Amino acid sequence: KELTADAVDVTLEGYAHYMLKEIYEQPHSITNALRGRLDKDNATAKFGGLNLTTQQLRSVERIVLTGCGTSWHSALVGEYLFEELARIPVEVEYASELRYRNPPTDRDTVIFGITQSGETADTLAALREMKRKGHHTLAICNVIGSSIAQEADGGIYLHAGPEIGVASTKAFTSQLTVLSMLALYFGRLRHLSYEAGQRIIAQLEMLPEVIQKTLECHEHVKHIAARYADATNFLYLGRKYNFPTALEGALKLKEISYIHAEGYPAAEMKHGPIALVDEHTPSVFIVPNGTVYDKVLSNLQEVKARGGPVIAIVDHEDPQVANLADEVIMIPQIEDFLQPIVASIPLQLLSYEIALLRGCDVDMPRNLAKSVTVE
Ligand code: G6P
Repeated sequence: KELTADAVDVTLEGYAHYMLKEIYEQPHSITNALRGRLDKDNATAKFGGLNLTTQQLRSVERIVLTGCGTSWHSALVGEYLFEELARIPVEVEYASELRYRNPPTDRDTVIFGITQSGETADTLAALREMKRKGHHTLAICNVIGSSIAQEADGGIYLHAGPEIGVASTKAFTSQLTVLSMLALYFGRLRHLSYEAGQRIIAQLEMLPEVIQKTLECHEHVKHIAARYADATNFLYLGRKYNFPTALEGALKLKEISYIHAEGYPAAEMKHGPIALVDEHTPSVFIVPNGTVYDKVLSNLQEVKARGGPVIAIVDHEDPQVANLADEVIMIPQIEDFLQPIVASIPLQLLSYEIALLRGCDVDMPRNLAKSVTVE
């Protein structure tokens, strides 16, 4: 059963590129990540391979999330998820830093290594180091039987199927899906009520359909790409859950279109990046409804006041944003903790379309490797 995800064929199936195919596979890959893991009766999630007893999991006092690249961005979303849904302190570490640091760690700390390939040298080394110190190490991994999957004390497979495009897309959204379920699980071991657990499950179950709907923005995103494909700098801005979304959006653009892009928490922009804003530097704002909506809106106004073009991602008819922004991309509504999964779709498509217009090799960008097995 574990092998089915990797056994699917990896032809292009009519798509122009693997990246595009993988973007479009997301309703399906997320369904696979959810399959069999939602326990509605108990309003929680369930995982077969954590290899810890419920008592041991209940006594986890701290979680360290580590990874590289896109997987590190997933870890950042994980931090917000675990803190909010499970009230567990979380630290996010670049695996390449963690492996050579000597952080003091509590006994009841578990480590999650997040990795699509399961072969990233730094992530493997960081997990080994934490394991050596006696911590329980868990992998959130896509490739079955990979080095990290084998060496970790336990873990969760994404079942996203093979990801061929160098720029990670479906693995990212599957990682976020798994992290959301984990936060639900840890939350239900602690303070999270039955009703709250049920609400979270209902939102998770909506995801595949919501992602399918989100993909309808493709044509519109393509037109927007044509207007900005010649830019040399981009800013990506969001707050709370969508701060990591901004980082990931910027990384996607850098990776495949070779445009310099920076992701920032929107409010941090005034401490430096705002100096980059001029009429040639587009800012992508992720500004769906939520607790920080007004704050992000005022950050957006600050950019407009300085003449910067704005591409805004919203989740409802929003006259305030429409009046300010040069482009508006609409995504379906979902609770804030799942917004990074949904908002990433137009960002993936934007980078894909811009890279095509610039004649870049989307699936095999220069200087990058799908998995970095050397230090
Ligand atoms: C490489 C890839 C990235 C990926 C990172 C971590 O840099 O190009 O797309 O996010 O490695 O890979 P992993 O397999 O550990 O998730």
